[in-house]
Amino acid sequence: MDVLYLKYRPDSLDTVMGNEDTVQILKTQLSGDSKQPMPRSLLFHGPTGCGKTTLGRIVAQELGAKGNDIREVDSADFRGIDTIRDIRKQSTYKPLEGPCRVWILDEVHKLTNDAQNAMLKALEDTPSHIYYILCTTDPQKLLPTIRGRCAQYQVRPLSDKEMKILLRRVVKAEKESLSKEIYEQIIQDCMGHPRNALQVLAQVLSVDGDKRLAVAKRTAETQSKTIELCRALVSGDPWKKVSGILKGLKDEEPEQIRRAVLGYCQAILLNGANNPTAANIMMEFIEPFYNSGFPGLTIACYSVLFDGNEEAPF
Ligand SMILES: Nc1ncnc2c1ncn2[C@@H]1O[C@H](COP(=O)(O)OP(=O)(O)OP(=O)(O)O)[C@@H](O)[C@H]1O
Ligand SMILES: [Mg+2]
Repeated sequence: MDVLYLKYRPDSLDTVMGNEDTVQILKTQLSGDSKQPMPRSLLFHGPTGCGKTTLGRIVAQELGAKGNDIREVDSADFRGIDTIRDIRKQSTYKPLEGPCRVWILDEVHKLTNDAQNAMLKALEDTPSHIYYILCTTDPQKLLPTIRGRCAQYQVRPLSDKEMKILLRRVVKAEKESLSKEIYEQIIQDCMGHPRNALQVLAQVLSVDGDKRLAVAKRTAETQSKTIELCRALVSGDPWKKVSGILKGLKDEEPEQIRRAVLGYCQAILLNGANNPTAANIMMEFIEPFYNSGFPGLTIACYSVLFDGNEEAPF
């Protein structure tokens, strides 16, 4: 049940929810219309869990690449220049089965500077049987020259209406049914992020009917505790208070909390407020907690409060 989001990963452009402009452009480019030819380097960017990797895989398939000719590399794990050298070397080989070979490079902003420079060279002289598909949540961390070399496609969160259609589709396929209230709770909590929504849905469906609303609400509670954490950090509350809130979030996913904190602070800054604390929090939260996990989150919060002070903020 917990892998609902993998089970229902769209396998064609027609089953991708929302993102109509991006889907439409890709359809035209894939149709072979010479006015809008298919680019050799594509960059999908946008928030986590909204369809970048999914679209990359669909495009690879639509291009006719098969089996081992589609290669996925997670740049978070292989960040160095050797990875890119290896990709370039392998790209000189002809495809094994289909007409082309496709590299899907996930989390591409994680590449080191040297690796990005090597990547730039790869993008500059791409063999005619090769396509590069780059995916990232942080396009601003890429060399501008890399961005400039790629056709860029923005991937957006879903509207509430689109999210409802997606959830209903999955619930129906699972031969289940849910109350309107539960749908609304999930939609409200997941703010347009399909992976997130399907994870919550899996939790909801894993319990008996009478407990489902409570499970959906628990996620809402996490969300509100996260907002409490954001408020406490921005107002520089004492460590005692912040640590209390953190304890309440211990069973939650630190990465999700990190992104929520970034979103909260970004909203403050984009509203035009001159808020150095929000900016400082963003700096402390900018690197993922994939490896550091909950300790990483804890120390980031501590650093925000302690920053610039002579004494620890107890
Ligand atoms: N637009 C969408 N329509 C339908 N389902 C979607 C869509 N976007 C994401 N999903 C669901 O969410 C899951 C995760 O999507 P995907 O892996 O493409 O996200 P991503 O943007 O690559 O995220 P990340 O930045 O974390 O790598 C998919 O398996 C699918 O079930
Ligand atoms: Mg991805």
